[in-house]
Amino acid sequence: MHKFNIVIIALFFSPGLFAATGERPDPEAVNAGKGLYQEYCQSCHQKDGVGEKPIPSFIARPGYLTAMPLNETSHAWHHSDEQIIHTILNGLQRTKRMPAWKGVITEQQASHILAYIKSFWSDRILACQGPKHMSCM
Ligand code: HEC
Repeated sequence: MHKFNIVIIALFFSPGLFAATGERPDPEAVNAGKGLYQEYCQSCHQKDGVGEKPIPSFIARPGYLTAMPLNETSHAWHHSDEQIIHTILNGLQRTKRMPAWKGVITEQQASHILAYIKSFWSDRILACQGPKHMSCM
């Protein structure tokens, strides 16, 4: 029982694990996420999250999706922190190109990557992150 409490307390205070939607990420979490982003995400979502260049439709296979920007020019910020972490760990139904990273990276690493992604967003975008984006801008 005692050990269990300590685990709970440690989880609660681990930086970035419970990142909050709409809040500027912790600089330490951003730093921790940068290298992970470069290793696992940048090949598709590109440096600074600018996304892949669209492939002309006459070349692309039907249904092929390019990796959208994760900076504020696309819609990653329409989702809450929890939803984005869920996408990172479980991938997307609509395309196998976005892999499920569960088993490769931990939930905490996913939250650090999210912190790095959020560092691309301005205060104005951060303030509108998640469900309230519809009424916010
Ligand atoms: C092999 C290419 C590839 C890699 C590597 C990759 N992604 Fe993706 N990602 C995609 C594609 C393709 C989509 C879906 C594009 C669409 O739906 O139009 C996507 C979608 C997403 C979305 C959904 C964004 C939204 O607005 O709904 C998030 C978040 C995301 N990726 C994060 C990541 C993170 C974080 C990593 C690294 C851990 C990563 N991706 C690695 C290809 C990739």
